[in-house]
Amino acid sequence: MILVVGGAGYIGSHLVKELVEKEQVIVLDNLSTGHRYLVDDRAVFVQGDLGNRTDLDAIFEKYPIQAVMHFAANSLVGESVVNPLKYYQNNVAATLTLLETMLKYNVKNFIFSSTAATYGIPNVELITEDCPTNPINPYGRSKLMIEQILADFASAYGLNYVVLRYFNAAGAHESGEIGEDHNPETHLIPIVLQHLLGQRDKISVFGTDYNTPDGTCIRDYIHVTDLAKAHILALEALLTGKKKTAIYNLGNGLGYSVKEVIETCEKVTGRKAVIEYTDRRPGDPARLVASSQKIYEELGWKAEYSLEQIIESAWKWHQWKGTKWSSRP
Ligand code: UFG
Repeated sequence: MILVVGGAGYIGSHLVKELVEKEQVIVLDNLSTGHRYLVDDRAVFVQGDLGNRTDLDAIFEKYPIQAVMHFAANSLVGESVVNPLKYYQNNVAATLTLLETMLKYNVKNFIFSSTAATYGIPNVELITEDCPTNPINPYGRSKLMIEQILADFASAYGLNYVVLRYFNAAGAHESGEIGEDHNPETHLIPIVLQHLLGQRDKISVFGTDYNTPDGTCIRDYIHVTDLAKAHILALEALLTGKKKTAIYNLGNGLGYSVKEVIETCEKVTGRKAVIEYTDRRPGDPARLVASSQKIYEELGWKAEYSLEQIIESAWKWHQWKGTKWSSRP
């Protein structure tokens, strides 16, 4: 049985939808930012906290857990700067309790959701996993701390782990029934689509004077189902013993500027956006694009969805959510 912590969140719920096809799944989520309705009915759902030993003991005593996949974290860069305690508490301290419990029950396989924010402001076209990690905010530091803890636990306790550093997760499940549901929403693609659905007056482009061809920031957008598939390959690699420890980037290898994303949203929806050009948002690197060559070579994974397909799937979801949302828990 596989324990998915944070399985009611955006990325966790997409992983669960794929994983229930192959494994028995138990989801632990405190629903602080996740939603019960996002969890596939075939998974066992437990509402509880990964920092709470009683909640964890109850699960590990009852179920034969083979591996833990950990998606439960706070992930807003700006919030982490003004409230670092929350980030170190939830992302670091609570994760340590989870790891301690795994060791107590002799569960040795762990998959960890990390982030491009561990790199800081890299000075390369394509970021490889051996680029220096210099996070510039508490969110990125909280994720890097766990990566370092995992390396120490592997040496000392024989923990097997895969760290997956996501770039810009986007898009929604092809069914259109689960997708991104953050409150507040800060990410570019959902904000643009909410605007094009008439839920926001306009969109703001944060900065037009970056050192990029059109002056706006470039990011690597990766479909959430592509991310989910990478997790399943990583899990198989741990369970079969093919891998003991690994760190992989997950991206498309293609960068798109903020302007290009907005234009693609306009093309997909056939609607025109009202754009306001504003100052830079603090802490935004000009360009973050992944090389995902390593996971392709070692596990055979590569991104399959294009930016247009990512936006098409997100558009389907946002339209569904607009009409059906009120009837879901
Ligand atoms: N942007 C706008 N207007 C908006 C929202 C975003 O111009 O209303 C711009 C941002 O300035 C940025 C780009 O769109 O240049 C993408 O922004 P997102 O907020 O969608 O995503 P980020 O690249 O900031 O964040 C992602 C992940 C984080 C991770 C970070 C690493 O969501 O978890 O990359 O830098 F920490």
